[in-house]
Amino acid sequence: MDRPYTILSCAVSLDGYIDDASPDRLRLSNDEDFDEVDALRAECDAILVGAGTVRKDNPRLLVRSPARRERRLAEGRTGDLVKAVLCESGKLDPGARFFVTGDAGKVVYTGASAYPAAEQRFLDSPGTSVVDAGDPPALEVVLADLARRGVKRLLVEGGTHVHTLFLTSGVADELRLAVAPFFVGDATAPRFTGPGVFPDGPGSPMRLEDVRRLGEIAVMRYRSVRAGDPGEAASAGTDAQGLETGTDGGAFDAAAHGTDR
Ligand SMILES: NC(=O)c1ccc[n+]([C@@H]2O[C@H](COP(=O)([O-])OP(=O)(O)OC[C@H]3O[C@@H](n4cnc5c(N)ncnc54)[C@H](OP(=O)(O)O)[C@@H]3O)[C@@H](O)[C@H]2O)c1
Repeated sequence: MDRPYTILSCAVSLDGYIDDASPDRLRLSNDEDFDEVDALRAECDAILVGAGTVRKDNPRLLVRSPARRERRLAEGRTGDLVKAVLCESGKLDPGARFFVTGDAGKVVYTGASAYPAAEQRFLDSPGTSVVDAGDPPALEVVLADLARRGVKRLLVEGGTHVHTLFLTSGVADELRLAVAPFFVGDATAPRFTGPGVFPDGPGSPMRLEDVRRLGEIAVMRYRSVRAGDPGEAASAGTDAQGLETGTDGGAFDAAAHGTDR
């Protein structure tokens, strides 16, 4: 399958939750970590989330650092990334920040039956495309469409259903996990992933590439090393920050202590 090199990024509590059950967003990160995620965003072509995250958090998903935006613009890219959302029902508010912020295009991937109504809903949203991803909607369709749009590096920022979908489908090449030093302990709160059959299971564990401390946040980076994984080939020569790698993978250290943090 022709697909982008795909990096999953998530912040979790010590007990694996990615939010609490309150209407407010739980802060699981700190400024250093946000800045590093911003650097990661700046090196990608598109950012993808699920409709649940757009409805709950109303995120902007922009590149925040002016220097990184300038660098992207100087490279002939947009300041922000293409934003993609998986929304089987097609039911999202075109007035959400996701759609009305950023200087790059937005794509809504719906199920086939929801597509006509969703297309109508976004008719007056310039820069937003609605794509029929099939019935049921298929991740292969989504990833092939992003690849056709020139997306070579995709950053996936949640939530639970979307992370589970990418991981169980075996299309997550890298995982960046930031762990906050507290517990949530509420069974009704969302976790990083739900149940499923994960190709990166005990028989084929991911490779731990890097562990670092950002204040009280622990950041771990894993790479999928399944045999024949197209992501391995797609990533050859670069790490998650888009930096050139040596054969010993030492560029992860270079990325961790890079000049722009
Ligand atoms: N800590 C973090 O790093 C972090 C990051 C992001 C989000 N979060 C949290 O995650 C929670 C949201 O997670 P969630 O699991 O409820 O929502 P989600 O994963 O963001 O989105 C789920 C939605 O995606 C759509 N979907 C799923 N599979 C699809 C497919 N194959 N094709 C098209 N659409 C598909 C469905 O949309 P429809 O409903 O339209 O059918 C589904 O309801 C929030 O609490 C948020 O704060 C945390």
